[in-house]
Amino acid sequence: MRIVLVGPPGAGKGTQATRLAEKLRIPHISTGDLFRANISRQTELGKLAKSYIDAGNLVPDEVTIAMAKDRMSQPDAENGFLLDGFPRNVSQAEALDELLKSEGIKLDAVLDLEAPEDEVVKRIAGRRVCRKDSSHVFHVTYSPPKQEGVCDLCGGELYQRNDDSEETVRTRLEVYHTQTEPIIDYYRAQGLVVTISAMGPVDEVTSRALEALKSGQ
Ligand code: AP5
Ligand code: ZN
Repeated sequence: MRIVLVGPPGAGKGTQATRLAEKLRIPHISTGDLFRANISRQTELGKLAKSYIDAGNLVPDEVTIAMAKDRMSQPDAENGFLLDGFPRNVSQAEALDELLKSEGIKLDAVLDLEAPEDEVVKRIAGRRVCRKDSSHVFHVTYSPPKQEGVCDLCGGELYQRNDDSEETVRTRLEVYHTQTEPIIDYYRAQGLVVTISAMGPVDEVTSRALEALKSGQ
């Protein structure tokens, strides 16, 4: 399957993507995680992306699209993928459409995770991520690690993302409403959007997502 995951910051895209990718046996491709890996390796791309990410703004399309294309061209993505955080505006969605068209393939669904603003703000405020791998995600109250400050999965140190400060979260939410939400209409016109509530326990949301993807609604 080829799926795009969309939803406001903190809705649980990364959390669900990890589980769905495993169940559906497709790679989880998160542009946020790819940027954070570049930042921690201090690559040129990481240096460029950091200022945008820390301010809560989108990284310029040119570099983002090139990075996403490069990741999608790897062998593990040949038969499907779950895109998390890409596309994030209409030009990125158009670029993805062009790429898929040139390869004669299509998206199967765009899974839209809905969560109210007060909930996503709470989820972000308590989020802790692993220094070694930012796809290892915890929450101080909703899914605490066994040992405070230590990743259950790899023993890495847990920290609060720079862009999870209250002020930056406000910018990210605004960017989501103005730049990312329009892609939902863009994909709705293609009949691809499946909307589910992201509220409730993580496992329940995963079951809801799998069910919705199966029935296409
Ligand atoms: P990115 O990393 O994609 O951030 P985001 O979209 O803001 O999403 P988040 O990672 O904040 O949240 P999430 O929905 O994945 O939630 P999570 O599962 O962690 O992007 C970061 C930045 O990179 C962007 O601002 C931009 O600068 C740049 N960027 C990335 N892609 C780009 C692109 N395509 N173009 C341009 N720039 C780009 O969950 C949140 C918390 O809630 C966790 O603590 C989790 O444990 C908890 N939680 C999850 N589910 C539940 C539940 N059901 N109940 C209770 N708690 C839950
Ligand atoms: Zn870890």
